[in-house]
Amino acid sequence: MKKILITGGAGFIGSHVVRLFVNTYPEYHIYNLDALTYAGNLENLKDIETKSNYTFLKGDITDADLMNQFFAEYQFDGVIHLAAESHVDRSISDPLAFIKTNIMGTVNLLNAAKDAWKGQMEGKRFYHISTDEVYGSLGKEGLFTETTAYDPRSPYSSSKASSDHLVRAYYHTYGLPVVISNCSNNYGPNQFPEKLIPLSINNIKNKKPIPIYGKGENIRDWLFVIDHARAIDVIYHQGGLGETYNIGGINEWTNIDLIHKLCEVMDDKLGREKGESAKLITFVKDRAGHDMRYAIDSSKLMKELGWEPSLQFEEGIVKTVEWYLDNEEWLNNILSGDYEKYYQDQYEKR
Ligand code: NAD
Ligand code: TYD
Repeated sequence: MKKILITGGAGFIGSHVVRLFVNTYPEYHIYNLDALTYAGNLENLKDIETKSNYTFLKGDITDADLMNQFFAEYQFDGVIHLAAESHVDRSISDPLAFIKTNIMGTVNLLNAAKDAWKGQMEGKRFYHISTDEVYGSLGKEGLFTETTAYDPRSPYSSSKASSDHLVRAYYHTYGLPVVISNCSNNYGPNQFPEKLIPLSINNIKNKKPIPIYGKGENIRDWLFVIDHARAIDVIYHQGGLGETYNIGGINEWTNIDLIHKLCEVMDDKLGREKGESAKLITFVKDRAGHDMRYAIDSSKLMKELGWEPSLQFEEGIVKTVEWYLDNEEWLNNILSGDYEKYYQDQYEKR
């Protein structure tokens, strides 16, 4: 039986990857390693937690000894590394947390894998999940390809860029069998309501202002989270060693157009008059160093490995809204004292 370590499996994307692997591959044993930070939530995995091919391991990737112990005890054959601090705004107020987890934590995992797999790299795989934000900010034209020079501009993207470089360094220096993917913005069920779409859904539901940074002209390329999980499955199994694959939704939206679309869907689902939710849109002070545009060219992944997004945005956004409205308890459990404090610090000063 193959043993696969998935880090950050209690988070947004990680929980969808864990579910996909546990359900698709009964011949694998999936170990979900997560520190359960504010972003980690085992409720995301309730439907699979009793499956015989699934084990949860609580642990912090910044703890090198613990990582070595886990590798020695469980003898992982593969790693899919998603654990990270993931929110740009938090990286602006606390960069060091991002350096610790995203850089030091990744190095701890690389070292643990390198030492545990010494002399037996055959059949092993270390898959590092990264972001398109490492490429920086685009103007009106052009797309990020796998050969676009790195130009990260936030503490978050810089820490992810740094971890990507280290993963490649371990491939070249130690022959660690690595693969990397860089994905665009994800949306869908289980995303923590600090990110644009779930935060806006929650605010619209509660008739609170929807905070739009600057003029709302920044552009993101949105991909449904389950399509990202499908891409991770394909790349884990078929991606070339030492290769990088970009993953994107071919789905660019300005923030303001996206929020108008979301407001339309919310009006419809909540039985509100057309245009009612859009009245909540409030322009607030821009994010420092706000990247203008991200857009991904995923033709390498599509041509070489045959992946493509399965869901159009119009359908995905409706599914997402329905999920948040149907899962009030999940949302309410998150909106605790800590969240309130974060929200006040982040928005009430703007
Ligand atoms: P998330 O914040 O929802 O989840 C991160 C998970 O990592 C949480 O469960 C958290 O508890 C865990 N974690 C954090 N620090 C840890 C530590 N020190 N040790 C162990 N576990 C720790 O993030 P997400 O949006 O699901 O992103 C997952 C990965 O995908 C990240 O590496 C992120 O950079 C990358 N990514 C995200 C997006 C996106 O749009 N969300 C896009 C591209 C790439
Ligand atoms: P976010 O979901 O934080 O993802 P990222 O910064 O990684 O792309 O933000 C998506 C876009 O929405 C980004 O341009 C910042 C903007 N934004 C707002 O306008 N208001 C908000 O409250 C948030 C969280 C983001």
